[in-house]
Amino acid sequence: MEKNSITRLPIYQKAGLKRPASPAQARQIYIETYGCQMNVSDSELMAGILTQNGHQMVSHLDDADVVLLNTCAIRENAETKVLNRLKQLNHRKRREPELIIGVCGCMAQHLRNQLVEAAPYVDLVMGPDAYRNLPMALNAVTNRDAFLGVRLDKNEDYADIAPIRKEGIRAWLTIQRGCDKMCTFCIVPFVRGRERSLPLKLLVEDVEKLVDQGFKEVVLLGQTVNSYHDDDYDFGELLYAVSDVNGLERVRFTSPHPADATDSMIDAMANSPNVCNHLHLPLQSGSTSVLERMRRTYTAEAYRSLVAKLRERIPELVLTTDIIVGFCGETEAEFMQTYEMMAEIRYDSAFMFKYSEREGTLAHKAFPDDVPEPEKGRRLTEIIALQERISAEINTTTVGQTFTVLVEGESRRDANRYHGKTDGFKTTVFPKADSTVGDMVDVCIASATAHTLIGQIVS
Ligand code: 5AD
Repeated sequence: MEKNSITRLPIYQKAGLKRPASPAQARQIYIETYGCQMNVSDSELMAGILTQNGHQMVSHLDDADVVLLNTCAIRENAETKVLNRLKQLNHRKRREPELIIGVCGCMAQHLRNQLVEAAPYVDLVMGPDAYRNLPMALNAVTNRDAFLGVRLDKNEDYADIAPIRKEGIRAWLTIQRGCDKMCTFCIVPFVRGRERSLPLKLLVEDVEKLVDQGFKEVVLLGQTVNSYHDDDYDFGELLYAVSDVNGLERVRFTSPHPADATDSMIDAMANSPNVCNHLHLPLQSGSTSVLERMRRTYTAEAYRSLVAKLRERIPELVLTTDIIVGFCGETEAEFMQTYEMMAEIRYDSAFMFKYSEREGTLAHKAFPDDVPEPEKGRRLTEIIALQERISAEINTTTVGQTFTVLVEGESRRDANRYHGKTDGFKTTVFPKADSTVGDMVDVCIASATAHTLIGQIVS
C-alpha cells in the first residue's frame, strides 16, 4: 500500500473474512490488560479489530463469553500473575465450558506451546503481531486444540486499524512497534519483533482526530520511541508536527533510549510549549561495565553528559528513570556506582527492579544469573529508600509554587477533590472549586509527599 494514502478499511477484508460475524457468531468480549502502556494501546487495537468484525466489547467479566488477557513478559512475576489469573478463570470455565479464554501479547509470544501445556484449558495464544487474526481464531476455536498465532511479522504496523479508546483526556498513540536494540536482559525484541515506525502523516491525522474527539493530551508510544523514523523524518520532527496540531494541550512520549536522545529531540522539547518537560530516561545501571554487559550502547559518563545537556536546554525538566539491580555479575562496587549516580542525578522518581532472568535473552545464554536473591533484595531496598528520600525532598521544594494541572478525574480518596498531572507528570490533588475534568487549572502547592503534590486552585 502506498505510504501516506492509508485508509482504514473494514478489517475483515484484511483478516480474510468475507463479512463481519453474523449476530449468531457475535461474541461478548472482555479484555484484561497487564503491563505497560503499549499493552493498553494494543488492547485498544484488539477492541478495534474485534468490533469491526461484529463482536461486542463488554466492561465486566461476568457479561463476557470470551476473555482475553493481554499480557506482559518483562519479568518473571508478570508471567506468574497471569498464570494465577488463568487458574481462577478455569474455575469459571469448569462451570461454563463455552467460555473462551485467550492469552494475547508478550507472554503468549514468549511461552507459546509451554503456555498450552501449563494451562491446557486456554483456547487462544496470540502474539503481538497476530491480532488481525483474532476474529478468525475465535471462529476456529474447537474443544480440542488451542489456536496458536505466534508468527512475528516485521511489516505488521496495524496502520489501517482504528483503535477503540475509552473516553478520557489522555490518549495513547503507538508510533512505533518492536525493538532493534539488543539489551541483553530484555525479552522485548524476541516477543515484539523488529522495529517499525508508522508514517508521520498518518500519525498527525490521528492526533487531529483525537483532539476532535475531545482528548487534551496524547502520549506517543514506542519501545525506544525516539528512534522513530519515517524516511527523512526523525523523532524531533514528529514531535514538532504533532505539537502543531490545533487544540492539543499536551504531548508526552515514552520510553526514549539515551543513545537516541538527539539534538533534534531536545530542540523540539525545548521549543514547543505543549511538548511536556518530562523525560523518562532509563539508566538501568550507573556502572559502565554493567552497561557494557547489558549492551546499552552508552557509558555512565555519556549518560551524565546527556543529562547535563538536557538540564541546560530544558531548565524545568522533570527526569525519571528505570533501574535494574543484581544484573549478572554485578559486584558491590558496581552496585554502588548505580547508588551514587542516583544520588548525584537526583531523579524526580524511578521504577526500580531486581534483575529477572528471561529465557531466550542474550544474558540468559551468555551470563549466569549469579547475584543471590537476598542480595538483589537488599540492593533494591537500598535504592528505593534513597529514591523515596530524594523524591520527597524535590517535591517539598515545590511548596509555594504554582503549576498548571490538567484535570483528570475525581480523587479516589475524596469526592470533593480532583487529581491531575503537572507538565512534569507529577500527580497533584486539589479541591474541585469550579473546575471540571479536562480543564487546565493553576494549582498552588501547599504540601507534598514523595508521590503527590497537594494544593489549591488559584485564579
Ligand atoms: N529484569 C528486570 N527488569 C527488567 N526490565 C526489562 N527487562 C528486565 C529484566 N529482565 C526493566 C528495565 C526496563 C523496564 C521496562 O523494565 O528497567 O526499562
